Amino acid sequence: MKLWGGRFTKPTNQLVEEYTASIGFDQLLVEEDIRGSLAHVKMLGASGILSPDEMEIISNGLTTIRDRVRAGEVEFSVSLEDIHMNIEQLLIEEVGPVGGKLHTGRSRNDQVALDMHLYVRARTLEMIQGLLAVQKALVMQAEAHVDTLLPGYTHLQRAQPVRLAHHLLAYAEMFGRDVERFMDSYKRVNMMPLGAGAIAGTPFPIDREQVAAELEFDRLYENSMDAVSDRDYLVEFLANASLVMVHLSRLSEELILWSSEEFGYVELDDAFCTGSSMMPQKKNPDVPELIRGKTGRVMGHWVALLTTLKALPLTYNKDMQEDKEGVFDTVATLSGALALTAPMLEGMNVKTDRMRQHAEEGFAAATDVADYLAAKGVPFREAHAVVGRLVLHCIQEGETLSGLSLDAYRKFHPAFEADIHQRIHVEAVADARDVRGGTARNRVLSALKQKKEQLDET
Ligand code: ARG
Repeated sequence: MKLWGGRFTKPTNQLVEEYTASIGFDQLLVEEDIRGSLAHVKMLGASGILSPDEMEIISNGLTTIRDRVRAGEVEFSVSLEDIHMNIEQLLIEEVGPVGGKLHTGRSRNDQVALDMHLYVRARTLEMIQGLLAVQKALVMQAEAHVDTLLPGYTHLQRAQPVRLAHHLLAYAEMFGRDVERFMDSYKRVNMMPLGAGAIAGTPFPIDREQVAAELEFDRLYENSMDAVSDRDYLVEFLANASLVMVHLSRLSEELILWSSEEFGYVELDDAFCTGSSMMPQKKNPDVPELIRGKTGRVMGHWVALLTTLKALPLTYNKDMQEDKEGVFDTVATLSGALALTAPMLEGMNVKTDRMRQHAEEGFAAATDVADYLAAKGVPFREAHAVVGRLVLHCIQEGETLSGLSLDAYRKFHPAFEADIHQRIHVEAVADARDVRGGTARNRVLSALKQKKEQLDET
């Protein structure tokens, strides 16, 4: 007999039962569901809707079920559809018909909303912790590599030399904004829907404020119809998670490139790589590749939920059951990626000589040759053209900017003087960017200090 079987004359078709059931995945909400029910029944008792005895019997029953679930003693049933009805049925078996009073003044529509709010609230804080750990790992490597220079790239072509610390701190900034985004959306996660009933509220004299306080929610949903049909907070969670994954994926992509023989900038720790079943020499960066690869599915979950919601009429529709698997999978995928990225960064071995060699060779100092002329009063546009011809000359003659003699420089412009060589030294080029946010040593040191203070505060 179904909990809702009264109105029906036939048993549910077997396929329908399986098709509509969510217990296969929403059993992940078991802790949240019981926690929410405990708060609800406490309020029912305090409001006089249930007697003190009834309240106590139901509360104890719920706690017993929770213990049995934790001990792995409970098997959920598909014919009971979802976690909510499974727990309710277990309760009735545990304490008898009085267990049927738990659902007074409540619907599964506000119950499932409550469970998801509790779930996403806790997971949001976990994602923030993971993001802080990744930032700490970046800061740790940045501290070790203030004086490691490498080419910065645009269009994946060597552009200007930068300090490795500067490059790594760029990612720390991204993950810092990700934390801000989760903290901002937390305000909309931390809202209490219970009391909305199925759609319009409940005639029982419930105390929503008490439930909210018991479950440490900051505020209540002010409209019952909104409370049972709002999934915005899940869309936001998925959007935030997608962006974190995109940031992790860009970082992963660089680690993959950098650990190729062609770049040779880093070597990932053996413990974070895998081999080939055929080619004995291979050491593959599977972890960053998988992070990059799994980014697509998180983005997919975000789009899928938006698509599910886009034409739904108010209020609850069964379509909404589709909100869960994408969120659960996103939590697993993102927390896995965060948990691996931090130690992978910490254990990464940086090939500083190779980076420096690439920063020195090539034409990463070309902008500075032009800036040098501009500082001597040559219009920048003209200086740019002069240095363009200089670079072309070097390419044709197999020369470098630092290898050219002063005489050779002067053939291109008379304003060149003896100090040109020191001005295009790789450190000098980096340190010339002495602007807030720039790659000059003192600027990088203060950015590092600021980031560390910020991380210590959070
Ligand atoms: N399993 C359902 C879900 O996840 C719970 C809410 C069901 N409510 C209903 N009226 N069928 O959305």
